[in-house]
Amino acid sequence: MQGKFISIEGVDGAGKSSHLVSMVNYIKTFHTEVVLTREPGGTPLGEKIRELLLHEEMHPETEALLMFSARREHIDKVIMPALVRGSVVLSDRFTDSSFAYQCGGRGMSNYKMRSLEDWVTQGLKPDLTLFFDLPVAVSLARLADARAPDKFELQGEEFFTKVRNAYLDRVAENPERFVVINASQSIDLVWKEVQSALLNFMM
Ligand code: TYD
Repeated sequence: MQGKFISIEGVDGAGKSSHLVSMVNYIKTFHTEVVLTREPGGTPLGEKIRELLLHEEMHPETEALLMFSARREHIDKVIMPALVRGSVVLSDRFTDSSFAYQCGGRGMSNYKMRSLEDWVTQGLKPDLTLFFDLPVAVSLARLADARAPDKFELQGEEFFTKVRNAYLDRVAENPERFVVINASQSIDLVWKEVQSALLNFMM
């Protein structure tokens, strides 16, 4: 497999979406094919599952199982074929989101999550993960301006604090693939950090 797999993570309101197009354009200066995709979603079926996930209340384990159903399709139909073709895959969220939101935020056990991960991803891990980190109060202030918030964006400080802490545990457990971006800065300064992380990785 010659491709490279990059994921982007962060709590809601961290501002990662603002940089996706610039990231694709920057990676294209090194590599001809870049596939930009997202989770939950990334395939026609996955996008239908996304609608349920973002708008229906459900048991935390149902939420995890649906996330991984969408992920199974995504890996099979989009991520693996692109990596086999030698592309760079840039995914707006991947399995770290499940550990952060369903385990950290909702309280599902890490043990169950790991077995789902083993089953569904079969060892596929991002080569690089950019984690957009910022204090929860700052992300909440940004979310206050969001139009038509989804079910996750309506959560409060306690939930997002648990999500952020779970992300920080993932960073500590996987230092070889994580780069932490200070997302509380201005868009220009955040972009400089993102660009330098991509440059280091692509060179
Ligand atoms: P998000 O990237 O925030 O979409 P948008 O920027 O369009 O609002 O992702 C949607 C939500 O899904 C986000 O709140 C996090 C949540 N999520 C999980 O809870 N678990 C997961 O495994 C994934 C991939 C996402």
